[in-house]
Amino acid sequence: MWIIAVNLLAVAGIIKGADWSYDFETQWPGVCTTGSQQSPINIMSRDAVVDRQEAHIKGPLAFRGYSNVNATGENNGHTVKWTLVDDEPMPILSGGPLRGNYSFIQFHIHWLSEHAIDGMKYPMEIHFVHVKTGLTVEEALKRPDGLAVVGVLCQVHSGVENEFALGELTPMLPSLFDRQSGPLPASIIDLTRLFSPNMQSFYTYHGSLTTPQCQEVVTWIVMDTPLIISDTQYKLFSKVDVGGIDNYRSLQPVNRVIYRSLASCASLTLPSSLGILAALVNLSSTMSGVVSKGICTIVNMKRKFWGNKTKECIKSD
Ligand SMILES: *[C@@H]1O[C@H](CO)[C@@H](O)[C@H](O)[C@H]1NC(C)=O
Ligand SMILES: *[C@@H]1O[C@H](CO)[C@@H](O)[C@H](O)[C@H]1NC(C)=O
Ligand SMILES: *[C@@H]1O[C@H](CO)[C@@H](O)[C@H](O)[C@H]1NC(C)=O
Ligand SMILES: *[C@@H]1O[C@H](CO)[C@@H](O)[C@H](O)[C@H]1NC(C)=O
Ligand SMILES: [Zn+2]
Repeated sequence: MWIIAVNLLAVAGIIKGADWSYDFETQWPGVCTTGSQQSPINIMSRDAVVDRQEAHIKGPLAFRGYSNVNATGENNGHTVKWTLVDDEPMPILSGGPLRGNYSFIQFHIHWLSEHAIDGMKYPMEIHFVHVKTGLTVEEALKRPDGLAVVGVLCQVHSGVENEFALGELTPMLPSLFDRQSGPLPASIIDLTRLFSPNMQSFYTYHGSLTTPQCQEVVTWIVMDTPLIISDTQYKLFSKVDVGGIDNYRSLQPVNRVIYRSLASCASLTLPSSLGILAALVNLSSTMSGVVSKGICTIVNMKRKFWGNKTKECIKSD
């Protein structure tokens, strides 16, 4: 069991003792800087391939056993993360672009989002990490199809009726404010509350872990319909110490095929209609696949919202 615990840490890229920081991404090791299939990326809807013949996306995604998950939370210094307790039945993901079954092992949260859609970043993104069923994490990290990560983008909306989504997590957050706190006692979490309103509406592509060692072993499934969270819930995350205010990696060059589910083509959600942090930056005109952390405007929007000092935006190119 100890070995599994160590491996789970490796999945999130957090090997205790190894120090890396979002402020020094260029110093991240190995494939993080040399790879060609890195994540996250800016997903341009018009460039995504609609797979009408179902050659790549074969039917709907199937989520089994996500409503009662016994997990323990921790602040690992880079994110808050809830890991499935050993010996518990693993929720299983299959279908869509996946060949075979993938077992859920942990979820964690980024604020701001890591992925952008049409140049739009979101206030938050939840990552559900799965390993190909039957493989150890170590084995999975050596195979291009070893991991599947589902990304759920979150939009902030004021009002008590929106407390539902993160309602099970926020009571635990104060115990996770401090860096390297937890693990908390195991408790049952309904992961379906953290799901996007439409879990068949997604983009999918092959990419990497977004933390060192950045292995290119991830089938990414990024939901395009945002989950609504409340502003009070979002503000709580300003108190979570992860070594800085932000914990997202820069956008990486795309240079690969992105597929889009049929359901995604049917839905037309403009995030900007949805809430107070909606005036997100449309980076697409300046992005053109270039790695860029020019998301200063939205970063400052978030900082103002949280009552933190804004940072100076240095004009790039
Ligand atoms: C959750 O896991 C913990 C630790 O293994 C265990 O003590 C507890 O009984 C489990 N809870 C449920 C409801 O299964
Ligand atoms: C996936 O799991 C289901 C049951 O959980 C099983 O019936 C099915 O055969 C598995 N598929 C593969 C490819 O192993
Ligand atoms: C972002 O900008 C691009 C090009 O300027 C435009 O085509 C696209 O519709 C914009 N996206 C949104 C969501 O406004
Ligand atoms: C940001 O603001 C929150 C709430 O006012 C505060 O608790 C936190 O320490 C601030 N973070 C930083 C890095 O200044
Ligand atoms: Zn992540």
